[in-house]
Amino acid sequence: MFNNEIIRPELEAVGKHLDEASIKVAGPLGKLVKKQLAGGKRLRPVLTLLCGRLFGDNNRSLSQAAAALELLHYGTLVHDDLIDNSELRRGEAAIQAGFSAELAVLAGDFFLAESVAMIGRLKNPELLEILGETLSVICGSEIDQLQNRGDKTNLRADYFRRINAKTGRLFQACAEMGSAIAGAEKSERASLSEFSSLLGTSFQIRDDASDYTGKSVELGKPVGQDLAQGLLTLPAIIFAEKNAGQTLERQKIIDSGAVESALMEAGVIREKALAILRSFSDSPARRELEEFALIV
Ligand code: IPE
Ligand code: IPE
Ligand code: MG
Ligand code: MG
Repeated sequence: MFNNEIIRPELEAVGKHLDEASIKVAGPLGKLVKKQLAGGKRLRPVLTLLCGRLFGDNNRSLSQAAAALELLHYGTLVHDDLIDNSELRRGEAAIQAGFSAELAVLAGDFFLAESVAMIGRLKNPELLEILGETLSVICGSEIDQLQNRGDKTNLRADYFRRINAKTGRLFQACAEMGSAIAGAEKSERASLSEFSSLLGTSFQIRDDASDYTGKSVELGKPVGQDLAQGLLTLPAIIFAEKNAGQTLERQKIIDSGAVESALMEAGVIREKALAILRSFSDSPARRELEEFALIV
């Protein structure tokens, strides 16, 4: 977990909100989800809090919105693991591996519902709209991704469209909620949203690269799954672009340097994001956001 000094009390409040949600899950499953909820990096809450802080806000609603966005993220991960039949999440058994597919469906639904309820309690229709749109875009892109596994016609364009929708969109929601709660101007909100969306896209590329060259023990989730399941992410796409007609094999992709090329592309997108961030006047929150952008 990031422990940025300037948002420490708010992050603690986020932890309490997450506990309130997990405590409602009965029995042995409750123990597992509590551990998993404690085990995430909490990138989305940190981003939400820092975006609010950029405009001087640290009120209670912000922590609640930050927690709701983490719950939304967690709910989608529970379902994602079920779809991918993945064994491990945040260093613990994935729910369908430790329990059953039925419980994974229900638990994912439960945490998405908790996310909606938590935002609903803030009595701010704009936040609810952001949440609803975000969840709809994420689910739509997951449907798109699943139905098009193995389709090689528009690899690069399809990839960027999907990662922008599934990960960029949630990062964007963090900026939108943070800055909306803090009462930022429309144009400032739009710039910060663009920054966050680009950061999410760059983050997803790095995650996709880690599926090739990362270590399962460090990531707390399996590696090598994407290609094995027919999901072509940027390293495979770069390899395919340079080696037309060749079969896509994990080791060949790694040996070709395509993972490093993908990371360079992520770096370029991150630089674009940082350039937008630097258009805001200098402040401790802006510096923390820059740090954050360099870490994710
Ligand atoms: C994993 O996100 C899913 C992606 C969008 C790549 P994180 O890497 O933020 O996962 P947690 O929240 O720390 O488990
Ligand atoms: C998942 O992305 C993002 C969602 C919207 C669920 P990944 O499939 O890359 O996430 P991991 O690698 O399983 O964490
Ligand atoms: Mg996955
Ligand atoms: Mg991944």
